[in-house]
Amino acid sequence: MSAALVKGRGLTKTFAGGVRAVAGVDITIGTGETLGLVGESGCGKSTLARLMLRLIEPDGGTLHFRDAEITHLPDRAMRALRRDMGIVFQDPFGSLNPRMSVAQLLAEPLKVHGLGDARARVAALLELVGLLPDHAARYPHEFSGGQRQRIAIARALATQPAFLVCDEPTSALDVSIQAQVLNLLSDLQARLGLACLFVSHNLAAVRHMAPRVAVMYLGRIVEEAPREAIFSDPQHPYTQALLSAVSEPGSTRRARIVLRGEVPSPADPPSGCHFRTRCPRAVVRCAEVLPPLIQHGAGHRVACHFPGTLTAAETS
Ligand SMILES: Nc1ncnc2c1ncn2[C@@H]1O[C@H](COP(=O)(O)OP(=O)(O)OP(=O)(O)O)[C@@H](O)[C@H]1O
Ligand SMILES: [Mg+2]
Repeated sequence: MSAALVKGRGLTKTFAGGVRAVAGVDITIGTGETLGLVGESGCGKSTLARLMLRLIEPDGGTLHFRDAEITHLPDRAMRALRRDMGIVFQDPFGSLNPRMSVAQLLAEPLKVHGLGDARARVAALLELVGLLPDHAARYPHEFSGGQRQRIAIARALATQPAFLVCDEPTSALDVSIQAQVLNLLSDLQARLGLACLFVSHNLAAVRHMAPRVAVMYLGRIVEEAPREAIFSDPQHPYTQALLSAVSEPGSTRRARIVLRGEVPSPADPPSGCHFRTRCPRAVVRCAEVLPPLIQHGAGHRVACHFPGTLTAAETS
């Protein structure tokens, strides 16, 4: 992996009501690298993404950006650092002020950071995301959903950040245009050398975007590996269950794994391994000892006492 750009260690976030949205996560993204983050709704993906941008404060753990610890960086210094970070949200309607023209929306981050010559930069940004110079004078409601997301991407990239978080960037879009936006993002990622955290519950989108994938369950990363290993040789029972839920045309290799019960409440997670209440392989030890995320082959880490492919008996 290239030099670490963003590094979280032991990141923890507890919300009101004792909801442990993120429970001690170690995560590293190298310069120019894309990490995919998958997991069911409510497992803490967005909270972890926000922690990594310090949009919310962790109540435990540390965050480094380019070799410097920024966990408690004062607001002033943090504001200066923000030009190096961007975020694209799921819903461009919610993230773009409807009363601002595209030119204003794209110029705003430049003004905030005192980066001059907004006009030329706005034109360049529109071209970068496949929009036309004329679009600068229009307002968000005058665009299609896909075009609006292009505007949101252009705005996130206005200050030429080194780190971009994409939080479900295509989940609100028509299926027909999701691929266009994904292609744009992967093209920009490569062209601009962006480090990217790509958050999605859609495994196909993650596979398309991210050479390395982390799987999250109830506030913790349970498996992390190169894309090929996650999709062809998943070790954690939860990863196997996630993969089995998506049908791949022509693939009959993987038995469908039906998980027992519901995701437990993050306010009252199970002892030991958070997944053990739904795991076909769980034994007493899983309730007693939290399995650490440990090395399991090159670049492959798994948090399970008994990793490996589930047997037919276990999946039936
Ligand atoms: N600001 C908040 N205040 C209180 N609880 C929160 C807040 N934000 C998130 N949570 C809770 O933290 C947990 C994780 O939420 P989060 O939004 O990070 O999950 P997610 O994986 O992004 O889900 P989704 O796939 O639905 O976007 C959930 O139980 C959620 O209800
Ligand atoms: Mg989310």
